[in-house]
Amino acid sequence: MTDHRELHLGLVTTGVGGPGQYNRWLDPEIPGDASVNIDWYIDIVRQAEAAKFDLVFIVDSQLITRDSPPHYLNRLEPLTLLSALAVATSRIGLVGTFTTSYNAPFNLARRLASLDLISKGRAGWNVVTSGDGGTAANYGLDEHYDYETRYGRAAEFIEVSRGLWRSYEDDAFVRDRATGRFLDPDKLHALNHKGRHFSVAAPSLIKRSPQGEPALFQAGDSEFGRNLGARFGEAIFTHAQTIEQGQAFYTDLKGRAAALGRNPDAIVILPGFSVTVGDTDAHALEIDQYWREHDHSFEQAVAELGRAFGWHDFRQYDLDAPFPAAALEHARRSFYTQARRITDLAVSEGLSLRETVARTRQGWRSPFVGSAQTVAAEIERWFTARALDGLNIHSGHPSQFRRFTQEVVPLLQERGLFRKDYAQATLRGHLGLPIPANRRGAEAQPEAAE
Ligand SMILES: Cc1cc2nc3c(=O)[nH]c(=O)nc-3n(C[C@H](O)[C@H](O)[C@H](O)COP(=O)(O)O)c2cc1C
Repeated sequence: MTDHRELHLGLVTTGVGGPGQYNRWLDPEIPGDASVNIDWYIDIVRQAEAAKFDLVFIVDSQLITRDSPPHYLNRLEPLTLLSALAVATSRIGLVGTFTTSYNAPFNLARRLASLDLISKGRAGWNVVTSGDGGTAANYGLDEHYDYETRYGRAAEFIEVSRGLWRSYEDDAFVRDRATGRFLDPDKLHALNHKGRHFSVAAPSLIKRSPQGEPALFQAGDSEFGRNLGARFGEAIFTHAQTIEQGQAFYTDLKGRAAALGRNPDAIVILPGFSVTVGDTDAHALEIDQYWREHDHSFEQAVAELGRAFGWHDFRQYDLDAPFPAAALEHARRSFYTQARRITDLAVSEGLSLRETVARTRQGWRSPFVGSAQTVAAEIERWFTARALDGLNIHSGHPSQFRRFTQEVVPLLQERGLFRKDYAQATLRGHLGLPIPANRRGAEAQPEAAE
């Protein structure tokens, strides 16, 4: 890490429209099949790479309902998609969401290590525990794990994955044609892990990449989630609506990491935002307001409110009666942190259901709406105030993403905040993250390969 802080930029792609964007696909510039169209992904990710973005981020969940937003209804599986993007790009980092609740560490660690090698060290893993509780029914369970189990699995899953990624010492493959010796078996280490949630005996089947191993991202916001991020996260995705909220999260997360003996500067905080650029500030506000009203309807927002509450159906209630706070029970094994925040707001301010929905729709207003100059200045203000280390930008309407890359990025470069060209080849390199040491723990006994 150098003393010079550098801004980081990520691109979040939700093709035909993610949360709150039910009508975005009506934009004539967005192909109706964008979310399953590899050519569309390649095109937008190459735009981000031309603008020297650090990474592209593919969100995921494994549950849909008839009320899910269009992108969720029909989209490519992230690891498969990122592998295709890896060969269509050369520098940009490739980050996907993969859940620790409905995967096995041996398999997922292997697949992520493969992406890391295919991309020559550009893979990142957004570790989530799955907010959509209904996913359980797709994996043979009656209900989703409780929070303690979710996050207990997540921590152990990460430890196992890291152990697997360190199976081979960096010079294990001798490949000496003269002697016919391919491997130095002393440099291959079995994991022999037996834990509360997982048992993994064998070493991994794949060596480390130019960045050592995939960078770990984290996005949970509960106490459990923040502690997991502070312990393992190298980059943290979050949401922030005001600079004060951003600063509070930044200080909290980095403080937790420092208390665990980690270097807080080696953790990159990346809140997600939509950005609207206009010819003037007033023009940008007009565009933002237009899309706020047209990207989804009030009725769609009522249905979508249910997602945080385990897809509880709020259409059954009188819109003008007090917010039905008892619905929070349905969120226990879902997006509880988000659902509790909404419920607390509604109860403390005595809001009706209609007012609560109106508030959650308002909540999507981004602080980055204005002329290119205004947006660049506001990004600098947040960055300097340590409310963020970088932004995860939602690609949104294609014309807007072009305005961001072509008008705002050059201003960020002029201000000395953002790189003019890639200085590094790996995702860890872009983010200023160290390559994790590949030392065996004192307790791990090196084992000869069979
Ligand atoms: C910026 C951000 C992105 C997220 N992306 C995903 C995702 O792609 N898939 C998912 O299942 N959960 C995602 N989550 C949800 C969390 O990882 C977590 O499962 C959820 O918020 C519930 O846990 P919590 O109460 O600890 O936050 C995201 C959360 C945030 C803040």
